[in-house]
Amino acid sequence: MKQDFWLERWEHKQIGFHQPTGHPWLREHWPQLSLVAASRVLVPLCGKSQDMLWLAEQGHRVTGIELSEIAAREFFDEAGLTYRRERHGAFDCFIGNDIEIRVGDFFDLPSAELVRFEGFYDRAALIALPDDMRRAYVDHLMSGLRRGATGLLITFDYDPAVMNGPPFNVDDEDVGALYGRYAHVDLLAERRGLPESDHLRDRGLTDARDGIYRIVRR
Ligand SMILES: C[S@@+](CC[C@H](N)C(=O)[O-])C[C@H]1O[C@@H](n2cnc3c(N)ncnc32)[C@H](O)[C@@H]1O
Repeated sequence: MKQDFWLERWEHKQIGFHQPTGHPWLREHWPQLSLVAASRVLVPLCGKSQDMLWLAEQGHRVTGIELSEIAAREFFDEAGLTYRRERHGAFDCFIGNDIEIRVGDFFDLPSAELVRFEGFYDRAALIALPDDMRRAYVDHLMSGLRRGATGLLITFDYDPAVMNGPPFNVDDEDVGALYGRYAHVDLLAERRGLPESDHLRDRGLTDARDGIYRIVRR
């Protein structure tokens, strides 16, 4: 998936993936990670996810990584939060009080930075990437995170004959194959049926599975 694809999505406001009130599963399942309030939490491929606000309300120090500057600017503006901008390595950083969004390519985040995070949250990040990039994404994330780091992963699975990604279908077996060699993986909940979002139903999807997993780096 080319960077331009995503940059154009943001430019043309084609962001059907964005959830204006966040994901309900985050609130329900985050406590199962038992992270202390001051933990640093990474949100890869964060868009302008409202879930970052909820994570910061729990006392976490949140860092999102996002290709699009539009997403970062809209996140802070829509939340009414102030920020300053600083350049760090490959990233143009939007730095607020408890939330920072680093604008750049997730794959440019060095291991020396990844190792600082105790927690992570992946909603629509892994599933935004095509097959060949998913392995690279998990390898990069997991080889950088410290032992004991823990996070939630939300996946989406459907019959690929019905629709082309993104979102790409990732099933239970894929999660095991990607994360199993690095981490303990537990399925916390799943939901099957008609997708909740209009934009997926509009693309012809009548049956899908959402899954949420706890990942603990070994
Ligand atoms: C499907 S959206 C999900 C956004 C967010 N996680 C949410 O739940 O709303 C995927 C996001 O990843 C960003 N993205 C894609 N590839 C990226 C990369 N290599 N590095 C950083 N961000 C990336 C896109 O710009 C897009 O905002």
